[in-house]
Amino acid sequence: MNNDLYAVVGNPISHSKSPRIHSLFAAQTGEPVEYTAIQAPLDGFADTVTGFFDRGGCGLNITVPFKEQAWAMAAKRTWRAKKAGASNTLFMDAEGQLNADNTDGAGLVADLLRNHGVTLAGKRILILGAGGAVRGVVGPLLAEKPQTLVIANRTPAKARVLADLFAEDAGDTRLSGCGFEQPTEVFDLVINGTSASLQGELPPLSSAVIGPDTRVYDMMYSPETTPFNRWALDNGAITAIDGLGMLIEQAAEAFAVWRGARPDTAPIIEAMRDTVG
Ligand code: ATR
Repeated sequence: MNNDLYAVVGNPISHSKSPRIHSLFAAQTGEPVEYTAIQAPLDGFADTVTGFFDRGGCGLNITVPFKEQAWAMAAKRTWRAKKAGASNTLFMDAEGQLNADNTDGAGLVADLLRNHGVTLAGKRILILGAGGAVRGVVGPLLAEKPQTLVIANRTPAKARVLADLFAEDAGDTRLSGCGFEQPTEVFDLVINGTSASLQGELPPLSSAVIGPDTRVYDMMYSPETTPFNRWALDNGAITAIDGLGMLIEQAAEAFAVWRGARPDTAPIIEAMRDTVG
């Protein structure tokens, strides 16, 4: 019997770790999955997606710069994709309709809760950034019922817009948006969702947000400690986690959406850590 076809679509795509991760998932679960990487032309994303499903493809992961386009072209969206405004997971349903999901936030929450034992309920959380990456995780973070969620961004107005967008999902959580200079109290968890590290820069944050029990999480990952995590550790954070676990958990969540089977991620994270350092 032929394997079911899946792929990740992006531009560029050659450095994507998704084919390796999903091959490991397939081997572990015994699911008949074949997973490749497809580079779509910058002006040809929709044709690439349509062509893939026309050839009998079962599901796609979507990465930079196409997540918003994937979201826009879907006929249906899951709750967590709706507010995210972007999709990293597409699949065709039994009626032949294209569905958009977003597993990034679930991936972050799963990594924090399951792999690092960081609980979020009742906690004070600060998240840095207000771009697509942060928008994708705010809904699932709020679903964990933190006491406070402060969104701080270089452009404060964008943080406020995001806080307004999610106000209806906040429940009892105190949700607000501001600039980097505003938070000066200690948080339980500080998440870096900016792309500042790509330029080797640090968000200009007061070290007063870091207390002796503060954990930090950088949604980026690299073989060396990221600049943000280094800064936090130097200022007394108890733990600094990078985003490799989030990458693997969002993939596991997508695999579960497609196959109905969630891989055991611990051995996969270990295997992948060995290859990123
Ligand atoms: P992504 O999909 O990675 O979120 P994005 O939507 O372009 O990409 O958002 C990038 C985020 O990183 C934004 O919050 C951006 O701040 P602005 O909204 O003020 O542009 C933030 N960012 C990028 N470079 C930064 C830097 N050098 N210092 C601080 N924040 C930065």
